[in-house]
Amino acid sequence: MPAIYKPLSMAREFVSAYVSHGDLVIDATAGNGHDTLFLARLVGEKGKVLSFDLQQEALEKTRRRLKGENLMHRVDLILDSHEHMSHYVHGLVSAIMFNLGYLPGGDHAIITRPETTVNALKAGLLILRPGGIITIVLYTGHEGGKEEKAALFDFCTNLNQQQFTVFHYCVLNQVNDPPSLLVIEKIH
Ligand SMILES: C[S@@+](CC[C@H](N)C(=O)[O-])C[C@H]1O[C@@H](n2cnc3c(N)ncnc32)[C@H](O)[C@@H]1O
Repeated sequence: MPAIYKPLSMAREFVSAYVSHGDLVIDATAGNGHDTLFLARLVGEKGKVLSFDLQQEALEKTRRRLKGENLMHRVDLILDSHEHMSHYVHGLVSAIMFNLGYLPGGDHAIITRPETTVNALKAGLLILRPGGIITIVLYTGHEGGKEEKAALFDFCTNLNQQQFTVFHYCVLNQVNDPPSLLVIEKIH
């Protein structure tokens, strides 16, 4: 299977199509910093990435990754829950990436939660520019993952179709709870 069909790669393909040089974007779950690095490259010299995580360890890993590529000046690392993202944003953002679950290689007890994730999504939709995009990579294999997916589906299926288009990409024939991708486009 070409890598593009994997949810993580597909999320990046979508985001690439919606983000231009100079844009403001958000990584809602910094983790090991892979998506933050991807976004920092995408927004160019004049752009900015706000990167959130609850764990200092994740932000330090992200800082090291970005420093290694000389791109830390394009990123603000924020030790706070993504529910509060609007407190840090002046203006509108063109993309927000979520990669849910736990920090790979970290404490598996610290995971994204249904209520806070849905609240973050609500906050994100308010600061997303028309023509902007939110991607959410979902995992259901860990405890609480299925409940989080259900909460997100409940919220997303009720979004006004005049304002938003929501897609869900998933593999139908894999065992062991493969990840999937939710994509929300803000129409206007
Ligand atoms: C799967 S990891 C993200 C991986 C990351 N995108 C990457 O490219 O390496 C999920 C991260 O979400 C963080 N997290 C959990 N709840 C959060 C919250 N309420 N606000 C912000 N980050 C949160 C965890 O600490 C963890 O680092």
